[in-house]
Amino acid sequence: MKVLVATEKPFAKAAVDGSRAIVEKAGHELALLEKYTDVEQFFAAVADADALIVRSDKVTADVIAHAKKLKIVVRAGAGYDNLDLAACTAAGVVAMNTPGQNSNAVAELAIGLMIYMSRNQFTPGTGRELKGKTVGIHAYGNVGRLVAMIAKNGFGMNVIAFDPFVPAEKMAADGVKAVGSIEELYAGADFLSLHIPATAETKGSIGYKLVSKMPKGACLVNTARKEVINEAELLEVLAEREDLKYVTDIAAERMAELKEKFGNRVFATPKKQGAETAEANINAGLAAANQICDFFATGNRKFQVNK
Ligand code: 3PG
Repeated sequence: MKVLVATEKPFAKAAVDGSRAIVEKAGHELALLEKYTDVEQFFAAVADADALIVRSDKVTADVIAHAKKLKIVVRAGAGYDNLDLAACTAAGVVAMNTPGQNSNAVAELAIGLMIYMSRNQFTPGTGRELKGKTVGIHAYGNVGRLVAMIAKNGFGMNVIAFDPFVPAEKMAADGVKAVGSIEELYAGADFLSLHIPATAETKGSIGYKLVSKMPKGACLVNTARKEVINEAELLEVLAEREDLKYVTDIAAERMAELKEKFGNRVFATPKKQGAETAEANINAGLAAANQICDFFATGNRKFQVNK
């Protein structure tokens, strides 16, 4: 079988070498398409692939249409909003992600961004400490839980969380207080760390109503997806509340306008780098290769997301 790794943002070399070793040991072949600049290159490369590994690369209905032999696509990472699941299902392609494999890298970046904003983006002036502040975790999945643990155990922060899919007892066992509503979460968070996926329900869901509830001097931290933010409303609330800050790993569509209007109260990393560590690349890349080999060998669909 031919396994194509198609990554506009390449994996670390060790992740590619490790994936190749796994794939070849199982009797398959690995092909590599990195830093492609045109979707036509993706179309051509996927034409004879039996399996596909991607990062945030968009696997659209067009890509699927060009992939006549494709049986499985694995998003090496957590969020699979870049996969057209309906197109995969219609073509009989199994779609998977590799949950948890890059979570620590994202969690560490979220904390780093909190410090960066609290210390005035490392410019001269008096900053604030994380200790004793409250971090609100919006969605208590793999990344949210790690942010909570680092914040609580490493920085002495108070942690509150909201996640309708996670029992309050599970959070309590971590020393995290589950709040009863999303409004309560935002109202109590000096730092609000976003970990919701981008879905039809969540897109544009974080806007004026929630952000305006945040306490004085609060900071909204987005290492999730830009699509969950209602950008017009974010601009509105930042204009109204001169004490609030926004930091993101995924630049807003209107980032230039945000920077121009709010200067150092906003910051975006130059290119999404939450999962951009050697460790996360290796964990997610190797997991993807293993999942594909296991799928071909045994039919294991444990991480299938288009069931
Ligand atoms: C994820 O969903 O796993 C992260 O957003 C990582 O995305 P990346 O592979 O594009 O860095």
